[in-house]
Amino acid sequence: MSIKTIILAAGQGTRMRSSKPKVLHKIADRALLHHVYDTSQQLDNNDIIIIYGHGGELVKQELNQLDANWVEQKQQLGTGHAVQQAVNFIDDDDKVLILYGDVPLLKKSSIDELLENVSSQSIGLLTVNLDNPTGYGRIVRSDGGEVQKIVEEKDASVAEKLIDEGNTGIIATLGYLLKNWLSSLQNSNAQNEFYLTDIIEMAVNEGIEVKTNQPQSQDEVLGVNDRKQLAYLERVYQLEQTEKMMEQGVSLRDPTRVDVRGTFQHLGQDVEVDINVLFEGCNSIGNNVKIGANSIVKNAVIADDVEILAHCIIEDAVIGAGCRIGPFARLRPQAELASEVHIGNFVEIKKSTVGTGSKINHLSYIGDASIGSKVNIGAGTITCNYDGVNKFKTVIEDDVFIGSDTQLIAPVTVGKGATIGAGSTITKDTPEQKLTLSRSKQTSITAWQRPKKR
Ligand code: UD1
Ligand code: CA
Repeated sequence: MSIKTIILAAGQGTRMRSSKPKVLHKIADRALLHHVYDTSQQLDNNDIIIIYGHGGELVKQELNQLDANWVEQKQQLGTGHAVQQAVNFIDDDDKVLILYGDVPLLKKSSIDELLENVSSQSIGLLTVNLDNPTGYGRIVRSDGGEVQKIVEEKDASVAEKLIDEGNTGIIATLGYLLKNWLSSLQNSNAQNEFYLTDIIEMAVNEGIEVKTNQPQSQDEVLGVNDRKQLAYLERVYQLEQTEKMMEQGVSLRDPTRVDVRGTFQHLGQDVEVDINVLFEGCNSIGNNVKIGANSIVKNAVIADDVEILAHCIIEDAVIGAGCRIGPFARLRPQAELASEVHIGNFVEIKKSTVGTGSKINHLSYIGDASIGSKVNIGAGTITCNYDGVNKFKTVIEDDVFIGSDTQLIAPVTVGKGATIGAGSTITKDTPEQKLTLSRSKQTSITAWQRPKKR
């Protein structure tokens, strides 16, 4: 039996006060709709149908990499009408699961339970007991506790409004039942909409049982209608991420001050993360890695025993075992450090390899360079890699010592074991093992006098 998941994402989201469709707003850098898609992707044997509408072209454009069928709902005539748009994709014996594109944190475990309640004799409905159910459809039960119907807030009587069990909107049922019910929906209600929720009463009238389950936490079924709710769910999501990290053996000085906008391909044990650290993209982090306060780590591969001091920005870089980075260092894309490398403050490295045990400790720009092992690069050294049009490579071989404030005009090679005198501008390749310097002679002008103020 296959599953068809219909994700409703055509609503306008007026309360976001945004030019962008609501489902494109993001939690942890991922569109709300993308979160829902990811969760439904975890189900086996599942086809996904996304109902889009308001600003829909933009939604499709931004998320066109998703493996889903896109169906347009031209006019937003209600949740029932939205599901009707997908009938051509529904086979009679499918299990149909209906999710909302603006309810991003629903868990697979809740869906699994819901789907277990689906048969020819019963449908599954996810409900939630709420402290404040205002705005939700209410679950009306018989004296015996069986679900009778769902009544929308705007259609509810005073007594029905007192019910605190709310409809999450998340429903699962067999295809042929759903298609039957959809074809007889009416819009004679307070909002003149075709309510999906009306299928509950239809089911009951046909003797089909409505089995309910509840999520583990209310947060799972909260929808995003405005930016306050978006920010709230971002925090819920972030706490889930940091909890997972701690469960895996990571120490976080303050789990409320670490954000994860992406994934970990690998996360070692005894990693220590200080406050205000942001992880982005896909990171791989080894054992015993320390990350200092206020650092951003994006798409990095970090080996064991690396220490990143405070205020570093690491992006698309590879850091070998035992390296020490920062404080205030910037590793840009394609910076590749072998093991035991030291990168100090105000050093920027781009598209360069640095060999084992080399040190670049202060105020340098290293771009398009290949640096050997045991090299020492003095303070203020710059690879001049760019002539305004083309980029050129600097090669620094093993055991080189570059004196402070050297400019290396690429393309240029500094031979193995060479020493470059401080303050040099190196325009030609330099020989191995020799001292090379380019420096004008120092003179003192004895007759000179400092001008005096009158
Ligand atoms: C709906 C439920 C309500 C439930 C609440 C939970 C109905 C009639 N009511 O109410 O019982 O408690 O959700 O949040 O189902 N959408 C479309 N096309 C439409 C209308 C809506 O795609 O024509 C989508 C929206 O983008 C959204 C979802 O369906 O993702 C819910 O729509 P919304 O208007 O927010 O429904 P509520 O009135 O909140
Ligand atoms: Ca809603």
